[in-house]
Amino acid sequence: MGASMSRKHYRLEMPGRFAKSLETMLVAAALCGATFAAAHGQMANAPAVPVAHEVAGHGQGAQSGNDPWWKHAVFYEIYPRSFQDSNGDGLGDLNGITERLGYLQSLDIGAIWLTPVYPSPLVDFGYDISDYENIDPQYGTLADFDRMVAEAKTRHIRVIMDMVMNHTSDQHKWFLESASSRTNPKRDWFIWQDPKGYTADGKPIPPNNWISGFGGSAWQYDPRTKQFYYHEFYKQQPDLNWRNPEVEKAMFDTVRFWLDRGVSGFRFDAVPSLFEDQKLRDNPALGGINAQGDPILEDTYTNNLPEVHDVMRRLRAMVNHYPGDRVLIGETYLPSVQELDKWYGGSKHDELQLPMDMQVGFTNKLDASLLRQRINDAETSIDGNQPLFVFDNHDNKRSWDRYGDGVHNEAIAKVLATLLLTSRSTPLMYYGEELGMSTSVPTRKEDVKDPIGITGWPKEKGRDGERTPMQWNGEKNAGFSTASTTWLPIGVDYKTVNVRVEEGEPDSMLNWYKTLIAFRRSNPALRNGTMVMLDKNNPSVLSFVRKGVDGGPSVVVAVNCTGEPQTVSFDLRAVGKSISAKTVITDAPSLRGSSKLKDIALPPFSSWVGSIQ
Ligand code: NOJ
Repeated sequence: MGASMSRKHYRLEMPGRFAKSLETMLVAAALCGATFAAAHGQMANAPAVPVAHEVAGHGQGAQSGNDPWWKHAVFYEIYPRSFQDSNGDGLGDLNGITERLGYLQSLDIGAIWLTPVYPSPLVDFGYDISDYENIDPQYGTLADFDRMVAEAKTRHIRVIMDMVMNHTSDQHKWFLESASSRTNPKRDWFIWQDPKGYTADGKPIPPNNWISGFGGSAWQYDPRTKQFYYHEFYKQQPDLNWRNPEVEKAMFDTVRFWLDRGVSGFRFDAVPSLFEDQKLRDNPALGGINAQGDPILEDTYTNNLPEVHDVMRRLRAMVNHYPGDRVLIGETYLPSVQELDKWYGGSKHDELQLPMDMQVGFTNKLDASLLRQRINDAETSIDGNQPLFVFDNHDNKRSWDRYGDGVHNEAIAKVLATLLLTSRSTPLMYYGEELGMSTSVPTRKEDVKDPIGITGWPKEKGRDGERTPMQWNGEKNAGFSTASTTWLPIGVDYKTVNVRVEEGEPDSMLNWYKTLIAFRRSNPALRNGTMVMLDKNNPSVLSFVRKGVDGGPSVVVAVNCTGEPQTVSFDLRAVGKSISAKTVITDAPSLRGSSKLKDIALPPFSSWVGSIQ
C-alpha cells in the first residue's frame, strides 16, 4: 500500500488530518503444554497445564472479580470471508468460524469481532449494508449465527458485531425510498443538497469541496431528483443524516436487535464521522495531491464533530440496560490522546468503553522513544479508562510488513506481541497475526478485488493483501477451503506459516502468543498492576514495570527495538527492594534462566519478561 493513502480513517500513513497530527505527536517460548516451558525455564509463573484445559473453567471471556470481562479478554478480529470456508465455495462463512472455535479457545481468545456479515451488495465487502437485521446468504443464515454464538459461549468466547452507522448501502430500502423523490418521508434520512451551481455546459457543481476517503468528490449527483447526496466512502455508501432523530432511533433499533440475540457488543465503524458541518463549509486544503489524485484536505468539517458525543452517550445509556457488560468499541482514528479520551466520556466514563487507540499500534516504526511516549499517554491521559491496543486490522498492511525490516521480522513481531499483551490495555488481535502472516499485495490489476485497488492502481493497490485466507495447514488452500479457487489467493508462505506447523514448533510466533496470553491471564500484576515506564531516556530499549498487586511480585518487561545488541540495568527501588528478576518469557536463549536486573544483554529485537523477586 502506498505511502500516500487518501483514506482518512484507517491508513495513518495517508495525508490529511492524521498525517499532519502524526508529525506533531511524540509521536511477544511456548506453552506447547508445560513441557516446553519447563524445558526452557521460561514460564516460571505460568500455568503448568496447557491453556486449552484451563479455559474450560475460566477463560479470558469469563468475569474476573469486579472487573468487566472486556478488561481482561483478548479480542480477535475475524474477516469472515477469509477465516474458514465450510461449504467449498472459496469464501469463508459462519459455519466455518464455528468449526474453528476450538482453535480460538486454545489461544484463549475471549471475544471475536466479525467484520460485517449482513446482507450487502459487497461493494465494500460488507461495509455497505442493505439489511441490518439479517445475515448475507454467502455467510450463512440467522440460525447459523445463533449456533455460532451458542457454541462460542460454551467455549467462553463472546461475539462482537461490526455496526456501520455512518452509512448504508445504496441498495438499502431506506436509501431507495429516500432517493425516490424529494418529498419522500425518508428524504431527510440521508444528506441531500442542491448543486452549488452549474458549469457553462450545464453540469451540476457539487455543494462543496468534500472528498471521499475512497477517491473523488464525496457528492454524487442524482439526475432524477436533481440533487447531490453525500458519501464519505464509495458512492454506493450514502451517509445517513444523524441530525434526524428518526435515523438514530432506527439505528439504535438495529443495535437492540443484535443485543437481544445475545451479542456481547459492537465495533462501530467510522463512528467519528457520523456528523458533518451543517453549514457545509469547505474543508481547508493542506496542499498537495493524494494517491487517488484528489487535493489533500483537512477534515475539519466532516470528522470528529462534537455532536457525535451526545449520540455516544445515548447509545451507552441504552446498552447499559442490558445485562452482562455489553461493550462498545470504536474505530477511532484520532489525532491525539486528548481527543481519544472524549470518546470514553472522559472522567464521566459514559460513552464507549473501548475506543481503539490507533496511536500506539500504527506508529509503523519500531522506535522505543515514540512507543514509550504513546503507550505512556494512553496509560496516563485517559481519566482512568481502559486503553484498547491494536497493531493489525483489515485496512492496513499487516504489522509483519509495516514494522518488519525484512531480516528480523519474526523477532520484531514478537516485540509487538509482547507490547500488546503485557501493557495495561485490552489487546485486539487480527486473524493470522499470531502466525506472522504477511501482506500478499496483488501484482496484477486484474486480480484486485478491493475497488480502491482497482481505481487507485498502481499507486494504491487496495486492501486485498491483508485479507488473504487464514493459513491453517500446509495442505490445499492452506486448509481454508476445498474449492478449486479461493476468493483471494493463499499467501505464498502457507507451507511454513500455518497453525499446524507452528503448533509443533516451540519457538513459533503462535506459541509466543499462547505463552504471553497465558501469562497475561494468570499473572496478577499483568492483569491489574499499574504500568510505569523505566529507563525513560533510553532511545533503543523500551522497558516498563507492571506493579505487583497486594504485595505480590511485579513484572518487568524490556524490548530491544534496534538491530544492535543493547544492555540495560534496572533500578527498581521504586517498586520495592528488588535485586533480581526471574526470567519468565524471552526469545533470547542467552537470557533463559537469568535472574539479573543489572547488565541484561538483549540481542537485537529481543524481548524479555521477568518476574521481580
Ligand atoms: C472502516 C472499515 O474498517 C473499512 O474496511 C471500510 O471500508 C470503511 N470503514 C467504510 O465502511
